Amino acid sequence: MIETPGATRVPRGLAGVSVSDTRISKSSADGSLVYRGYPIAELAAKASFEETAYLVLYGELPTRGELDAFASGIWKRSTTDPRVFDIMRSLGGDAQPIDVIRTGVSALGSIDVERSIEDKETSIESKMSVLAANSLRVPRGEQPRLPGETGGFADRLLRMLTPREADDFERWVFERVLIFYMEHDMNASSFTVRVVASTLADPYAAASAGLASLKGPLHGGANEAAMEMLLRAKDPENAHEFVEATFKEGRKLMGFGHRIYKQFDPRAKLCKGYLGEMAKKRGDDRLYRLCDAIEMEMWERKKIPPNLDYYAAPIFYLLGIEVPLYTPIFAASRVFGWMAHYNEQVEENKLIRPDSTYVGPLGRNYVSIEKR
Ligand code: ACO
Repeated sequence: MIETPGATRVPRGLAGVSVSDTRISKSSADGSLVYRGYPIAELAAKASFEETAYLVLYGELPTRGELDAFASGIWKRSTTDPRVFDIMRSLGGDAQPIDVIRTGVSALGSIDVERSIEDKETSIESKMSVLAANSLRVPRGEQPRLPGETGGFADRLLRMLTPREADDFERWVFERVLIFYMEHDMNASSFTVRVVASTLADPYAAASAGLASLKGPLHGGANEAAMEMLLRAKDPENAHEFVEATFKEGRKLMGFGHRIYKQFDPRAKLCKGYLGEMAKKRGDDRLYRLCDAIEMEMWERKKIPPNLDYYAAPIFYLLGIEVPLYTPIFAASRVFGWMAHYNEQVEENKLIRPDSTYVGPLGRNYVSIEKR
């Protein structure tokens, strides 16, 4: 074993380790979440996506003028170079959408003409939703769907994601879910973004890395995995057998558990309420009852609460969005949080370069290839 004298050992997965000061957001074990000091429930009740994004990025709620300039700045930059779509198309219809977006953002890093860091960030924030909405269509050879001229960020994104016309309540719910996905302190992808930012690489590199980290089913990929699980479970009456079989096979229930929230995830709680309302308005509550039944089974057995992904997924499903687009939606929103972390990291930068303890073999002698 080789250990640097004086090095601090930390728990696996950095669990319980505070790696940085931040002014952006904080989730706590008691089920609270604040963005820049505002409780998430208050923002969900009163704020628009753009207001929240401005808050997350700049630390204060915008004035009317600031908000208008911010919102129009985002959409002015949504026009995406056709070469980016060509690259996405070249990946073919079997490509996973999150890989397609990551490749698109990576390509943007070489193609984009923006000069300042802030313009680069706005360009990524704007184009991420265009890439996300087209991450299934374009590789399948279909024409890109572009943002419409009217509506806010959430409306335009939803219209690109699905041709189904949502009603006012559904649009409002979709916007709330995007607000919840926007930011979550030192989650895996934001930490990844900060590691890349700490090398002073550009925001395209940081966003591509964030996307890579988001892909996994333990993080952003969980909303798709949760929906696939719900579709397999099918009926509320099957919940008991389904949970039993899942554990017997040694598998996890997707959309449950969280590093920070051990009692409840406030975002999941709010989304559950929205899902219930959507179900009531449709006069069909089977999906809601299925979610509730699995949640009850899980709590009874393991006292593990559902996370945001568990209740965001069925909301997206009822909105008529194809399942492989769920993680891309997460990315389209979380990119605003990533850019806030990028800026905070660069403003107070110290290269993130931890140490490790070497536990591999020692004292070995090289043997030439012919003798191995
Ligand atoms: N299903 C079954 N058991 C679970 C689950 C689950 N979803 N989550 C945690 N557990 C169990 C673990 O098996 C472990 O049990 P053990 O102590 O008997 O070994 C215990 O709870 C602690 O779990 P860890 O995985 O150690 O907790 P950690 O904080 O490291 O992980 C994580 C959190 C990765 C989110 C985990 O709960 C998980 O894998 N959940 C499923 C994937 C998921 O939903 N991810 C989305 C996260 S939220 C987001 O990205 C918006």
